Amino acid sequence: MSQPALSPNTRGLHIITWGCQMNVYDSARMADVLQPLGYRPVETAEEADMIILNTCHIRERAAEKVFSELGRLRLICEARKAEGHNTLLAVAGCVAQAEGEEILARAPYVDLILGPQTYHRLPEMVARVARAGKTVIETDFPVETKFDFLPEDAAPQTNGNLTAFLTIQEGCDKFCSFCVVPYTRGAEISRPVSSVMAEASRLVQSGVKEITLLGQNVNAYHGLEDDKIVGLAGLAERLRTIPGLERVRYTTSHPRDMDQSLIDAHKNNPILMPFIHLPVQSGSDRILKAMNRGHTAEEYRDIIRKLRQARPDIALSSDFIVGHPGESDKDFEETLQLVRDVTFASAYSFKYSPRPGTPAAGQPFQVDEDVKDKRLAILQALLREQQDAFNASLVGTVQDILVTNTGRKKGQLNGRSPYLQPVHFEGDISIIGQVVKVRITDQLTNSLSGVLL
Ligand code: SAH
Ligand code: SF4
Ligand code: F3S
Repeated sequence: MSQPALSPNTRGLHIITWGCQMNVYDSARMADVLQPLGYRPVETAEEADMIILNTCHIRERAAEKVFSELGRLRLICEARKAEGHNTLLAVAGCVAQAEGEEILARAPYVDLILGPQTYHRLPEMVARVARAGKTVIETDFPVETKFDFLPEDAAPQTNGNLTAFLTIQEGCDKFCSFCVVPYTRGAEISRPVSSVMAEASRLVQSGVKEITLLGQNVNAYHGLEDDKIVGLAGLAERLRTIPGLERVRYTTSHPRDMDQSLIDAHKNNPILMPFIHLPVQSGSDRILKAMNRGHTAEEYRDIIRKLRQARPDIALSSDFIVGHPGESDKDFEETLQLVRDVTFASAYSFKYSPRPGTPAAGQPFQVDEDVKDKRLAILQALLREQQDAFNASLVGTVQDILVTNTGRKKGQLNGRSPYLQPVHFEGDISIIGQVVKVRITDQLTNSLSGVLL
């Protein structure tokens, strides 16, 4: 979407976002907290007075990618300087948290370095960098939470979108063997119910119809309401009372926190979409144990059975890691078997990538790269087959589609199925924003097409 030209008192803000949906949310909130200082989003780094690189540390060569991007951005800042503009360069997110000192040493031209839990301090950091004339770094885990500092009255910058993210829980205390998140995002915290409800209401007032609740362990949500603790099922029940909110999703869930109340909510609460991202990582009990996941493959299958009992049209997606240290051919075969047993509508799969400072990185029996490559290809082929079969199974059915925007062809509309598939069909633009019935007629490569009923 093109941005209006900047007025003389405003400054351009360009945020580059890598990583998960939580980073997408954080980038939007950084824009919110910088708004009172006159910063407004601009399309390109070349027009910006401040550039923020919001980084991800989850897999291989994260830091190297950051340094190479910083090299590019530095040139842009220098060119801007030659034209008389002082452009601030900031590194935020999980690499800033994990490698702040390294960034300071290797890229001293960076003005601001801040971790995911300190972005509410951005305005103050901007003032400090102007005074100090050298890099300002904030990578401690503050006692106050950033959520208490989000500008409550600011109109949410939804860009007219009908769908939005809302972070309700953050951080992780689970310490899976392979994962950096507990180190980069810090301890698990949940936002109070009232703060989530207020933000959800603001989003709906600005036109949002579908909210995706975010958390690294979103179903471990335990927000305070008065002095009582409310879980995710309870929160979804409260969200159901917001008039105009049509759909709620949540991601990412952990199997250990998939309790009966949440499973029941999928039967009883119609705003919860029948599509859950529930990472399992491996189908081998030996590897699940080495990963410190805290559940067995059978316990995962059992959760899926209960979910399908509660809501027969539910579909699943998941994350897999191949080649965790110690993974044998037999372990990998058990992962394939789990995939065949459960059947997924979509999934993400990755080669294990040793992350500095995590327990698995130091373990013996690292799996050879070419073995990881082969296993990944086999797993991805199976998952692709299942995804195609799932999409094909919808052809002929009638689905509730949230109409999101006009399509590329004249008279065409785009929408989103309960399972997050893009759906194209013909219709009048007046129904944008509504949930309508569409009969699915065709399966395209990454989308579906249908006819409006
Ligand atoms: N909190 C979520 C996952 C967050 S990270 C959960 O517990 O499931 C997103 C995904 O990245 C993980 O599910 C995992 O599949 C993958 N991942 C994390 N660390 C990884 C690593 N070191 N190597 C490869 N994949 C990794
Ligand atoms: Fe990482 Fe495990 Fe926490 Fe997920 S549950 S964020 S994989 S440590
Ligand atoms: Fe990446 Fe941090 Fe998200 S490491 S996946 S941006 S929590």
